Amino acid sequence: QAVSLIGVPTDIGAGHRGASMGPEALRVANLMDRLVRRGIEVVDRGNLQGPINPWLPPEEGYRHLPAVVAWNRAVYTAIYTELSAGRLPVMLGGDHCLAIGSITAVARHCREQGKKLRVLWLDAHADFNTAEITPSGNVHGMPVACLCGMGPEELTTLGGSKPATSPEVFRQIGIRSVDEGEKRLVREAKVAIHDMRHIDEVGMKRVMEEALEGVDENTHLHVSFDVDFLDPSIAPGVGTTVRGGPNYREAQLCMEMIADSGRLASLDIVELNPAFDKRNQTAKLAVDLVESLFGKSTLIR
Ligand code: ARG
Ligand code: MN
Ligand code: MN
Ligand code: MN
Repeated sequence: QAVSLIGVPTDIGAGHRGASMGPEALRVANLMDRLVRRGIEVVDRGNLQGPINPWLPPEEGYRHLPAVVAWNRAVYTAIYTELSAGRLPVMLGGDHCLAIGSITAVARHCREQGKKLRVLWLDAHADFNTAEITPSGNVHGMPVACLCGMGPEELTTLGGSKPATSPEVFRQIGIRSVDEGEKRLVREAKVAIHDMRHIDEVGMKRVMEEALEGVDENTHLHVSFDVDFLDPSIAPGVGTTVRGGPNYREAQLCMEMIADSGRLASLDIVELNPAFDKRNQTAKLAVDLVESLFGKSTLIR
């Protein structure tokens, strides 16, 4: 399966500056080369363009909404174009608000191809806030709600109709920070959340079996990998660290089990923030994990 890398250099939805440097940090960590060496055909499409970050306070519950919309339109078009060409798009973020554009495109592709969509949301956060309940106004805390039709019209209808997708397609893994109002919303929407306590209790293997249950030949598997999923002791290069995340081995197993499903069809790598990193170690770790996601294993390939 041919892969296209698409850089989206913005931190427009985040609460800290610097995720805009994520695409280049992943390139410097040799993402392309590592995939090519696995025998994958890879093209780097370069970076999308969009408005600068004006760094303003929230207005009516959202920070920078017009610029967030502009970036997400660009992402939506670019990802949809790659999927239509039969390629596997890898979005190099950028902050997590960009998953609104990428997953709206993926959902449209699935509708057109008669595919079942499953989204694995690897994150410390549920990202299910709305303007009414957000503690920050940062849209990177809202993409899952937007994708489920709860949010501003410009974002919920990016793909034409609303909602882009529904709570049943999501499996959230690694969650350990959910805001007060957000707790009620994810409960009401019945989002399947495999939080850190569940991982502690049953182990990553069982959690991944649960998250991948029902995935079959007709499933399009999208992975939205927020790098703050990982424990901050191994991945300090993110804006919103939360302690108590998966360790190196747990993260590897998670990626390896996704690879074994054979159904990975699109990927976001988001929230990598080189301004918080040391010697690009978090980008290098993300690249290691992405290699596993694309099938690298100790004894076979
Ligand atoms: N829940 C917090 C908020 O809404 C933090 C969200 C962090 N999201 C992320 N994609 N890193 O402001
Ligand atoms: Mn396809
Ligand atoms: Mn997060
Ligand atoms: Mn996130």
